[in-house]
Amino acid sequence: ASTSSTFRITPSTAPLSAEQRQQQLQSIQFGRVFTDHMAVVSYRNGTWQDPEVKPYGPLSLSPASSVLHYGQAIFEGFKAYRQPDGSISLFRPDSNSERFNRSAARLAMPSIPQELFIGAAEALVAIDQAWVPSGSGESLYLRPFMIATDAFLGVRPSEEYLFLLIASPAGEYFPQGLKPVSVWASKEYVRAAPGGTGEAKCAGNYAASLLAQAEAKEHGCDQVIWLDAIEREVIEEMGGMNLFFVYRDGGAPVVVTPALTGTLLPGITRSTLLNVAGDLGYQAEERRLPLTQVLNDIASGAISEVFACGTAAVITPVGEIKGRGFAQTINNNENGPVAMALRTALLGIQRGTAPDTHGWLHPV
Ligand code: COI
Repeated sequence: ASTSSTFRITPSTAPLSAEQRQQQLQSIQFGRVFTDHMAVVSYRNGTWQDPEVKPYGPLSLSPASSVLHYGQAIFEGFKAYRQPDGSISLFRPDSNSERFNRSAARLAMPSIPQELFIGAAEALVAIDQAWVPSGSGESLYLRPFMIATDAFLGVRPSEEYLFLLIASPAGEYFPQGLKPVSVWASKEYVRAAPGGTGEAKCAGNYAASLLAQAEAKEHGCDQVIWLDAIEREVIEEMGGMNLFFVYRDGGAPVVVTPALTGTLLPGITRSTLLNVAGDLGYQAEERRLPLTQVLNDIASGAISEVFACGTAAVITPVGEIKGRGFAQTINNNENGPVAMALRTALLGIQRGTAPDTHGWLHPV
């Protein structure tokens, strides 16, 4: 049932013309262009209020807003896909809504009812539906987020918040398109420690990743691989994406991803692929993956492919793992068949060209 009707709609008086919009959709660069509107819901006096869709534009915030000082900020990412009949479906928005509220709890922020979270997406996608592209691998990326807005410099949870949802047409995430990335296994920096915020999709996790990402670049790599904080040995994730390792046990592929230990981001694409792997007849496993063992297994040929997954970039093959004193190429630095088969199967479900047997599509 659609609850988007609870949103007050204030249409933009200056939306892009169809021609201007088409021009923006010609060559899509991830996260640079935004649709004509945004959804906003305010939290005050202990309740969410005034759900509104209004013209996309700057926010007015007090310079003392606590988000600007202490980083009480969380976000999500999910996508709207054009279906073969021209309609639009969201992919697993309920999962994002649940994770958003788990992140909110970790950051001492209020939870937001699912009908408002999904209703914001429905209302925004409805008014900006012309922005949902239809090309293969294209979608409308939806970015919900929540920020603390109390004008107060004391360190304590804010009492007022803003929930916003903005939308950006998306094609390939990585500028080089679909080809393998190289990764740097960082022993200098850690992403998350037990008891920390690694499981939450909070802004600060991404801020803290940037220096390690720069270190990866200095070593000629595209992305960082995070190891556990204690042993600096167990593989956790890549940059902002989860990782999969394809073992070939003689016959059918076995796809293995690091088990959720409380320090990993529980990716929705990760969870989706564990299911899609089963659909394709692969065995899927979540377990502990020490770096040394993974390097040995790549060298011996036991691991045939490595790939990363996330909502933004879907599936990205990993062609090389480097670190201090080692460099290991994977699958001749080429896109591997298992990663590509999973990617095709997943995009098929998302774009409505393959049956949605898991009930993941949410028609708008
Ligand atoms: C994703 O892969 O969807 C991510 O979380 C990356 C995003 C922060 C752009």
